[in-house]
Amino acid sequence: MQETATRQAVRKKLFVRTYGCQMNVYDSERMSDMLAAVGYEAARTAEEADLVVLNTCHIREKAAEKVYSEVGRLRALKDRRPDMLIAVAGCVAQAEGEEVMRRAPAVDIVVGPQAYHRLPEMLAWAERARGGGVVDVDFRPEAKFDELPAPERPVGSSAFLTIQEGCDKFCTFCVVPYTRGAEYSRPAAAVIAEARELVQRGAREIVLLGQNVNAWCGEAPGGSTWTLARLIRALADIEGVERLRYTTSHPRDMSDDLIEAHGAIPALMPFLHLPIQAGSDRVLERMNRRHRASDYRRIVERLRAARPDIALASDFIVGFPGESERDFEQTLALVRDIGYAQAYSFKFSARPGTPAAADPLQVPPEVASERLARLQELLNNQQQVFNRGCVGMRLTVLFERPGRRPGQLVGRSPYMQAVHAEADTARIGELAEVDILAAGPNSLSGRSPTI
Ligand code: SAH
Ligand code: SF4
Ligand code: F3S
Repeated sequence: MQETATRQAVRKKLFVRTYGCQMNVYDSERMSDMLAAVGYEAARTAEEADLVVLNTCHIREKAAEKVYSEVGRLRALKDRRPDMLIAVAGCVAQAEGEEVMRRAPAVDIVVGPQAYHRLPEMLAWAERARGGGVVDVDFRPEAKFDELPAPERPVGSSAFLTIQEGCDKFCTFCVVPYTRGAEYSRPAAAVIAEARELVQRGAREIVLLGQNVNAWCGEAPGGSTWTLARLIRALADIEGVERLRYTTSHPRDMSDDLIEAHGAIPALMPFLHLPIQAGSDRVLERMNRRHRASDYRRIVERLRAARPDIALASDFIVGFPGESERDFEQTLALVRDIGYAQAYSFKFSARPGTPAAADPLQVPPEVASERLARLQELLNNQQQVFNRGCVGMRLTVLFERPGRRPGQLVGRSPYMQAVHAEADTARIGELAEVDILAAGPNSLSGRSPTI
């Protein structure tokens, strides 16, 4: 009791910078909630913060290296204000551990993605052991979720909810199984309780997150086990949950009941991010994706049979070791056949410790760059075509925040496009019909007949 009282008396400022995927965004929010409970309020900039947390990403070399340049900038601040603390959290912390402090001695704390709940303890340590440094990269996701407090602040109309962590797939290019550990599914009751909490605090849409979200397989009320489709049904029944999404999925875990759920549950939005990475079976095999391009095409067919308007997104890697021009053309052919609403594409980045990094058949960087440009041109065209196809349609939009121009709000269509429309800020959090009048490369704009 006394411990809490003294801790809460300290008012300090926290600045969190987030890199990487949505799961890091969720983790940053939870870290902020937890640190708020021990007296840290949000700072607007790193300059005015007592504690700066860099929540990092290790997925590609560029992402991982950003952290070190950021710590370099923060060091200059710390030279002027020696009591400022710097924490490196997230996947670089997990992958590199103490090495982070060797490379960047200005860092006081290194905390892995499963050890956030111990941050307050670590802070107390770091304050006492100035210049000593504290590292915690323990792997126990269940402890993390049990001990992080539920959010006490208002949340946006669309809220993230992590239901699954880690990955057992071991694609040969990927660091995630090493940085996030084995697959872990949170129990259904914990997910449902958190969803209720989010709705109470203002969420209308819940985005279920996991590195392999459709591998979720959780303990259910009564001791049985539920699939993701069953969980989605339970969440759709919660009063106030208007929309549900889940990301990111693996084709191997796209089970029959999940595909059917897209046709049966109106709250489940008709948009799916289903990465394939490459269109050639030879490359897919070398990536250890454990499915063929034809399996993926079949899943897409079945999804479209269940929900004809479903829009698809994917991730692609070009220049994977051993990828020939012919292999790459199969990726282009697959993209042409499927027709994506949106996609991310990357040049292969050799990550330390992964099998693909040691592959002798590395593709020269200029070949990978040239392929990336060709793929991106095709994907950008498809996105434009998809967006233009929405002009003249009436779409339901969930307004999320003010737009750039005064009097304008931005929300999301069922297909994840950003939609701009004239509306008062009081309408944030509302679902409204919008007649789509124009399409840009990355967003739509329109007018609501009811506003
Ligand atoms: N779990 C998700 C992906 C998480 S990583 C899935 O299986 O789809 C997000 C994306 O980063 C991947 O889909 C992949 O396209 C890309 N990526 C991962 N490792 C990479 C690497 N070494 N080089 C380039 N891109 C990579
Ligand atoms: Fe990485 Fe593959 Fe796991 Fe996705 S499925 S997180 S790409 S190892
Ligand atoms: Fe990056 Fe870790 Fe997410 S490596 S993509 S932050 S799981």
